[in-house]
Amino acid sequence: MNKKIVFATNNKHKLDEIRSILGASYTIASMDEIGCSEDIPETAGTLEGNALLKAQYIKTHYGYDCFADDTGLEVKALNNAPGVYSARYAGEAKDSKANIRKVLKELENRTDRSARFRTVIALITEGKEYLFEGAVKGKIIEEARGNAGFGYDPVFVPEGYAETFAEMGIDVKNKISHRAKAVEQLKKFLDEKRLD
Ligand code: IMP
Repeated sequence: MNKKIVFATNNKHKLDEIRSILGASYTIASMDEIGCSEDIPETAGTLEGNALLKAQYIKTHYGYDCFADDTGLEVKALNNAPGVYSARYAGEAKDSKANIRKVLKELENRTDRSARFRTVIALITEGKEYLFEGAVKGKIIEEARGNAGFGYDPVFVPEGYAETFAEMGIDVKNKISHRAKAVEQLKKFLDEKRLD
């Protein structure tokens, strides 16, 4: 029988992406589907800490094995900011355009524009906690380009490409992204566990 694992999110894009990568052998439930509508506080100072907080919340209050993710944009010349604060870099409104403006402003006249997206997934299964990571290196360009994707996609060009994440479209992005890489690690772990 398929094992039910809760993914601590209600983001439909993330759920679709994870279901398509993990395949039919896993039943992935969203927070809505287990009756959880809370906005779990992300109060840790690291991606790892926030991913663990969300997974622990579900395990403690609902009892299911579960995983949660957290992602940040880490810009080298900004000492890895905005990092864990990527969503609210320009304020609590979590406005992507304002966040992009702020990063471009902070990088004005800087020659090193290298950056990376990093995703951490925390999994709690059979009473143990595990962390998985995926990252994609690239650079921040000087002006936003493209309409696909979300967040900082219009100013991020991944290494080996000429287009931004927002120009290449989500099909290409989802194959090479930080999140896809982290999910691949999770899948490898779960697949190996099933064979035990
Ligand atoms: P979350 O942890 O997935 O909610 O991501 C936190 C924030 O990081 C988002 O609000 C976005 O600003 C940014 N972010 C996460 N993933 C991406 C991505 O794939 N492209 C661009 N920005 C992203």
